[in-house]
Amino acid sequence: MLFEKTKIRNLELKNRVIMAPMCIYSAKADGKVTPFHIEHYVTRAVGGVGLILSEAIAVSPEGRISDKDLGIWNDEQIAGLKNLTDRVHQYNCKIGIQIAHAGRKCECSDEPLAPSKLRFSDDYNMPKEISIKEIKLIKQEFLDAIKRSVLAGFDMIELHGAHGYFINQMLSPFTNKREDEYGGSFENRNRFLLEVIKEAREFYDGVIFVRLSAVDYEDTGFSMEDCINLSKELKKLDVDLIDVSTGGNSVNYTAKIYPGYQIQYAKTIKEKVNIPTSAVGMIDTYELAKHTLNQGDVDFVLLGRELLRNPYWVVNNAKKYENLDLMNQSYTRAY
Ligand SMILES: Cc1cc2nc3c(=O)[nH]c(=O)nc-3n(C[C@H](O)[C@H](O)[C@H](O)COP(=O)(O)O)c2cc1C
Repeated sequence: MLFEKTKIRNLELKNRVIMAPMCIYSAKADGKVTPFHIEHYVTRAVGGVGLILSEAIAVSPEGRISDKDLGIWNDEQIAGLKNLTDRVHQYNCKIGIQIAHAGRKCECSDEPLAPSKLRFSDDYNMPKEISIKEIKLIKQEFLDAIKRSVLAGFDMIELHGAHGYFINQMLSPFTNKREDEYGGSFENRNRFLLEVIKEAREFYDGVIFVRLSAVDYEDTGFSMEDCINLSKELKKLDVDLIDVSTGGNSVNYTAKIYPGYQIQYAKTIKEKVNIPTSAVGMIDTYELAKHTLNQGDVDFVLLGRELLRNPYWVVNNAKKYENLDLMNQSYTRAY
């Protein structure tokens, strides 16, 4: 199952191994793709993953985590991104974009933008509580980013709603203390994300993943119950998969970390909502990845740091454990 082809909506994937989104902090202030980005992603494409999820790519300069993030906030950035997707496609690999806004976790603004005036930690600048007009502006930035992603040749999009960035800040009662229609009740806190997807669906019928932190690890934060109920709403909007992670919205991190520690959350959401999910978090070995999929716990496995260490994880493990030679999938002509 791990190395067999599959399909999600109209997107055909040669296997169920996805490269997790990982910032590599290698862009310049213009947010454009550099030769290093091409080499980084093409290496993982050659290594055999079915789908690459890009690092968080910012919808605006203020939406960056750092000033070394890639951006998709202007049309001049499209050509570099198109070159990246073309090069990955040459190796028979699909690539999706993770679209993000850092909100209060922007480290390159004196006054980051956030749903509420609450600082992430003493090491971060105090954010400004944005107005409804500014919320609508950020929504438009997400929609423009989706349009540019299509022009740049990405095979799918993922909205980054996890790890304490802007969308997560909106969703969580721990970080969203607003008293208008974007804060307070569960419906209001979800409004931003659901509006982005609803409006995107008017012009984009491709694959959409949403990455969520299933829990904040805060008693007053976003809970598993919230995550299940939100996933039900996302399913109604034709979201294709919930990419399940945890944490990042609070400095209090109480999770016990062990291989596959987040699989339980993805499994529960799949069971309760009947929507495809993916699991991430120290899924480093063939045995764990295979077992997780064969059990039917989740639909895809995401590998992060292991692919930084070992870009050829797929071809190596396919050969070692299943005697499959997958190099010919990457080198369609030259091999
Ligand atoms: C260097 C690095 C950068 C990351 N950047 C992102 C990111 O841009 N977006 C995101 O959603 N998660 C990001 N993550 C989290 C990973 O996607 C993944 O969830 C996490 O590393 C756990 O998986 P792993 O144990 O396989 O590495 C990053 C992780 C690392 C190590």
